[in-house]
Formats: sequence, C-alpha cells, structure tokens
Amino acid sequence: MRLILLGPPGAGKGTQAKKLKDKFFIPQISTGDILRRAVKDNSELGIQARSFMDIGQLVPDDLVISLIKERIKKADCEEGFILDGFPRTIIQAEKLSETLNEMGLVIDTVVDLVVDAKEVISRLAGRSTCQDCGGMFHVQSCPPKVEGVCDNCGGNLAQRQDDNSETILKRLDVYQESTAPLKQFYMRQGNLKTVTARGSVEEIFSRVLEMVK
Ligand code: AP5
Repeated sequence: MRLILLGPPGAGKGTQAKKLKDKFFIPQISTGDILRRAVKDNSELGIQARSFMDIGQLVPDDLVISLIKERIKKADCEEGFILDGFPRTIIQAEKLSETLNEMGLVIDTVVDLVVDAKEVISRLAGRSTCQDCGGMFHVQSCPPKVEGVCDNCGGNLAQRQDDNSETILKRLDVYQESTAPLKQFYMRQGNLKTVTARGSVEEIFSRVLEMVK
C-alpha cells in the first residue's frame, strides 16, 4: 500500500501516519522529520534546509526530491509506505510519479485531511515534541503525564522552532499557494480521498481507514 497524506500544517498528518504505520507495518516517511534530524545533526542537508524551515518556507524541491527518491528505493518500502509532508509542490508530485513509474509502481490513495485554520493554529500552538524520540504531545488533546517529560522515553519536550504564531501563519500561506494545488493534481489522477480532520484522533483514524481499504 502506497499512501500520501495531504493537508495543511497541523492537520494531523504525522499523528495519522504513525497510526497507519503501526497498523499496516509499512514505513512512515516524513520529510519534515528527516529534515529536522538533518538540522539537529548539522549535516550538509541540515545546513541547507535550516534557513528555509525556520521562516516557514519550503526547502528547495531538488533537495527533498533526491532524498525521497533514495528513501523509497530502500528494502523496507517494498510492501509500501506512507508519505507524510511530501509531495508539497506540483514539481515534487511530478517527480514522484516519474520515479514510481520507473519502478513500475503507483500511489494507491491520497488522503486529504481537511481542517480549518483556527483549529490548526490551536493544535500547533499547543504541540510539544520529544527531543529524543520525536514523540508528540498536545497541551489539551494529548498532554504528557509529567509536564515537559516524554511519556515514551523520558526525554525533554520542547516546542518546535517553527511553531510560533508568525511562522505558523507563513506556513499556512505557503500551504495555500504551493501545496493546495496538489488536490487538483491528484483529483485528475482519480486517487484523491477527502477526510474531515475534526474530532478525536481515533475518529479521524477510522475515517482514514475507510478511505484506504
Ligand atoms: P513538516 O514537519 O511536514 O510540518 P507541517 O506540514 O507544517 O506539518 P506538521 O508536522 O506541523 O503537522 P501535522 O499535519 O503532521 O500534524 P501533527 O500530527 O503533528 O514540515 C516542516 C518544514 O519542513 C516545512 O515548513 C518545510 O520548511 C520543510 N519541509 C518538509 N517537507 C517538505 C517538502 N516536501 N518540501 C519542502 N520543504 C519541506 O499534529 C499537530 C498537533 O495537533 C500535535 O500536537 C497533535 O498531538 C495534535 N493533534 C493531532 N490530531 C489531533 C486531533 N484530532 N485533535 C486534537 N489535536 C490533534
């Protein structure tokens, strides 16, 4: 099963991708997570990506396209994968289709998580992430047992660098301008499924499962 999760920042792509990964035993490929790790490691990719991420802009297409091309050819993707945060531009979507064509593969389903800006802002403003394992929490919907401490590994929780109000608004603008047009792209390919992403994580997950069955 090869899936794409589309949706604005804070729609719940990462949350739902993790649940799909656990259910179907296929990898979650999050370009945001890969880039944040590269920034943390101060690798060449991280150094190039950081200045774009900090201000809510997209990292240049060629950087993310080449990392995805390499990633989906790995052995653990043979049974499928879940793309979380990629593609984000028409060029990325076209390059993904080209690469999959060369491999004799297609995307089965594109799930578009639809949620309004007010909800997104509240989700992102309240999010904290574990600095060690990447576990994700929310001050209201998913609070950690001990404030500032990850339930899973005991690591420190912190707010993401790009989850401040100015950068959240910028990310929403960038989404509308560069990523929302992908809905038309995949609608034309006939594999776009729309899911209302309001409600509890479990409610949304059952809607997503209906779409990917
Ligand atoms: P990325 O990491 O992909 O960020 P994003 O798209 O802005 O999405 P988020 O991770 O913020 O949100 P999400 O939809 O995954 O929601 P989540 O599940 O976390 O990208 C970051 C940056 O990297 C980009 O700005 C760009 O610079 C760069 N980048 C990445 N990919 C790129 C690409 N392909 N091309 C170019 N540049 C790229 O949930 C959010 C919060 O809400 C959490 O606290 C969660 O607990 C909570 N929550 C989730 N579901 C619910 C619910 N149902 N009810 C209440 N709370 C909920």
